[in-house]
Amino acid sequence: MFLTRRQFVKRGGLATATLVAHWARAASAGLTWCSTNGLLLSGGRPLLKSQPHPTINPNSLARFVDPLPLPPRAQISGYRAAPEPGHGKAPYYRIEMREFEAPLHRDLKPTRQWGYEATVPGPTFETRKREPIVVEWVNNLPAKHFLPVDHNIHGAEANLPEVRSVVHVHGAKVPPKSDGYPEDWYAPGKSATYCYPNDQEAAALWYHDHAMGITRLNIYAGLLGLFLIRDKLESSLNLPHDQYEVPLVIYDRMLSPDSQLYYPISLRPDAPWVPEVYGDSFVVNGKIYPFLEVEPRKYRLRILNGSNGRFFVLALSNGQPFYQIGTDQGLLSSPVQLNSLLLFPAERADVIVDFTGKQGQRIVFKHQTKDVMEFRVLGSGAKDASSLPAGLRPIRATPQASVKRTRTLTLGEYLDEAGGSMLMLLNGLHWNMPVAEKPVINSVEIWNLVNLTGDAHPIHLHVVRFQILDRRPFDIFTYNTYKKIKYIGPPIPPAPAEAGWKDTVRADPGVVTRIIVRFEGYPGRYVWHCHLLEHEDNEMMRPFDIVTG
Ligand code: C2O
Ligand code: CU
Repeated sequence: MFLTRRQFVKRGGLATATLVAHWARAASAGLTWCSTNGLLLSGGRPLLKSQPHPTINPNSLARFVDPLPLPPRAQISGYRAAPEPGHGKAPYYRIEMREFEAPLHRDLKPTRQWGYEATVPGPTFETRKREPIVVEWVNNLPAKHFLPVDHNIHGAEANLPEVRSVVHVHGAKVPPKSDGYPEDWYAPGKSATYCYPNDQEAAALWYHDHAMGITRLNIYAGLLGLFLIRDKLESSLNLPHDQYEVPLVIYDRMLSPDSQLYYPISLRPDAPWVPEVYGDSFVVNGKIYPFLEVEPRKYRLRILNGSNGRFFVLALSNGQPFYQIGTDQGLLSSPVQLNSLLLFPAERADVIVDFTGKQGQRIVFKHQTKDVMEFRVLGSGAKDASSLPAGLRPIRATPQASVKRTRTLTLGEYLDEAGGSMLMLLNGLHWNMPVAEKPVINSVEIWNLVNLTGDAHPIHLHVVRFQILDRRPFDIFTYNTYKKIKYIGPPIPPAPAEAGWKDTVRADPGVVTRIIVRFEGYPGRYVWHCHLLEHEDNEMMRPFDIVTG
């Protein structure tokens, strides 16, 4: 992957280390001072991008004292006529968004959060391919936001209700009216009923808030959960299941000394938006540094990076390899052996870890040098009858001969005079400008994502799945001067673990990332956007239309 030094330092958390040293003198016991993005080097001078604020230093917390919580399963509360003809009645779920308090660690005070059914992550949906469900998403949140809304952001103006919500199932092939269009938000006291046809292959999807201009705050507050789709093929593989299949929803947060979620603000009180947020506390299924007792056998981990902006590079402390068997949109063609797993925000990994022969060991799941959680291998367990098949499912490359249209789309960042980030745009266009991308239903397109910024951006398209063709470095100066792409290296194929069906792709800086997409699904309006939530909220999101041709 191509990471600039600035990007690497920012994303990798080294900036936090610099910052900790910088503020060390001011820090009292157990506290550190955090400023988002850490320090950007501007002309050699450090430039502070957000208000310094005291936060709990996670290094001061006891490791592995809380058992890993498992999100509850979403419960059916009845049956309703499915909007799709021929489906009869479909299971109906009523899911309420509520404010609640729960401690993120044994030694911390309860933290105010917003959760679906008052849990974070929300209840996990267990669904099957072609078995539709109906969900009523009820907004029962308070009228005031507890995180800093920026009313300068398009769609979050001061004359709108401060708390708004709309739910999107990320990766779901759904009609537009159930997709959770960002402008389809509703205020507390209201609800929306959506139907999910689940007409797609087994995959770990996830649901989260998508309200215009405040998605970053709503998800940071806790509005996210898993949505699993199963199918016959997956069931036939005899992968580890039931208690041996464990969801891991991982994200980073900052905590104030009183254990409350801290969301950073810029240096301008009238415009609190910050371009990126990196917390130093890593939360797994709602706890910091949890542990999980495992039997000495194979486990299947369904991992989601639910962070606003941070990528994770996950590895096991004993150096043992593991196997990635699936990505965003389901199973790979065959398992890929890995020593470390790179996951950008919104990406998912389906992973098999084999603890056989590791009786009595304590193995830490780490992000780079930092502890995330611990696996405690028990002395014994039931016999492991599960398998890790060499072949998982056939994945055919979408033929390039079928491409109807190729679009070249830029990712750009716009700075203020001080060199501070103001907003990012897709192809230079704002959210409210006319729709430019209008693929014909069932047609195949190649999208060239030309990243002109210094950051990697995880780009997500709603409703469709796609394949990554390649990534190729180009000269940004030539592009900015002559608007021509001059490649400066050969195209690099996707990593084996990315070579399946994706819905979110990492677009590296100074690189053209090519994806091939068949626009299957339903005609109508959807969105594509950067999944760094601070970018998404500030214009790095565009509508697109699937048209009937
Ligand atoms: Cu994960 Cu547009 O969303
Ligand atoms: Cu971005």
